[in-house]
Amino acid sequence: MTEIELIKLALEAREMAYTPYSRHKVGAALLTTDGKVFKGCNIENAGYTPTNCAERTAIFKAVSEGYKTFESIAVVGGMDKLKALPFCAPCGVCRQVLREFVAPDTFKVYLAEVDDVTDLNNLTEDKVRIKTMTLSELLPLGFGPENLEI
Ligand code: THU
Repeated sequence: MTEIELIKLALEAREMAYTPYSRHKVGAALLTTDGKVFKGCNIENAGYTPTNCAERTAIFKAVSEGYKTFESIAVVGGMDKLKALPFCAPCGVCRQVLREFVAPDTFKVYLAEVDDVTDLNNLTEDKVRIKTMTLSELLPLGFGPENLEI
């Protein structure tokens, strides 16, 4: 699974985003260590706080299906009317949820700036710029499961 393939799956997931309130659509594609991909989109709610981010949708789908070891995640997002997407980095809550399950120094987060999301079937690599970060870079000095070990 290449970075661009994972980003394309995140773009596919973004199409399913339920965002009547913010109109900001996010898609994520989470790659497990055995090569399976879980996709997720953000799902909003009239009560606002029950909203779930795309990244957490993907993580919770994976964990609830028995997958708990991950290599990387691709994240794409932007307002629904945009033809071109800016880089969209995971929120603090999603960074913390990732911290629970991944090795922060090696787990990769692929962010993508995409020139044209109106025709995903014809998306070529020259229309995508990728920024690769580790979870440690996004969440330095994170608090994780090992902090609760005696
Ligand atoms: N959102 C995500 O899904 N992931 C992020 O990393 C940033 C924010 C969603 C939550 C909400 O539905 C909308 O984007 C605006 O905050």
